[in-house]
Amino acid sequence: FSPLVSERPLAGRHVIVTSGPTHEPIDPVRYIANRSSGRQGHAIAAACARAGARVTLVSGPVDLSDPPGCEVVSVQTAEEMRAEVEKALPADIAIFVAAVADYRAARIAEQKTKKSEGGLTKLKLTENPDILASIARHENQRPALVVGFAAETRDVEVYAEEKRVRKGADLIVANDVSHDSGIGGKGGVMGGTRNRVAIASADGVEKWPEMTKDEVAERLVLAIAARLGV
Ligand code: CTP
Ligand code: CA
Repeated sequence: FSPLVSERPLAGRHVIVTSGPTHEPIDPVRYIANRSSGRQGHAIAAACARAGARVTLVSGPVDLSDPPGCEVVSVQTAEEMRAEVEKALPADIAIFVAAVADYRAARIAEQKTKKSEGGLTKLKLTENPDILASIARHENQRPALVVGFAAETRDVEVYAEEKRVRKGADLIVANDVSHDSGIGGKGGVMGGTRNRVAIASADGVEKWPEMTKDEVAERLVLAIAARLGV
């Protein structure tokens, strides 16, 4: 048995996890999204539940079954995700794994935009709220431990530490997705079952070897428990 199951280091804790992409509608048939299968986020939610936590999983659209032992709240957009995360507070730990779309359409067209009208070439975008940063800087309900993810294609460790400080997170789990171009269909981190990550904290950057997403989840939960001093 893993120490998660035998020692239940997160017993009595409430954990919020975000997972999957968000879909930002443009019109009734189109949306803006990032690439994300939700596998790593769902694996982390499942590992937290195995470790004894009460887990609220706020997930964008994914093609995965609900992880055992988690309360799953399904959302479409970043704005809905932010509202559901707020609603789930207070929490001891918040882990932001979702690949949130950075932008949404400034206005959603009620009717399908016709190509012949050239509508989408002039699409106006608005920046989405940064959910991680808003929770990490929450005025009265900041979770004791706030964890973010960073998918980068270059200078992974530099960007991870910069993101950690900029967003006010305690930990950033960074992965290199430089081989994940959908062009040519080469399999990579996104949609795959394996991951290689580096963990940025105030103590520096720690590189973990490549392992499965379930193993990353398990090891991350143990690292989180150790930080909370349980
Ligand atoms: N995140 C979030 N809300 C957003 C954007 C990102 O909560 N609107 C969270 C993600 O879930 C992740 C972390 O912030 O944990 C980093 O996301 P990332 O896209 O790497 O960071 P950005 O600040 O959007 O920077 P970039 O320009 O590299 O996309
Ligand atoms: Ca982003």
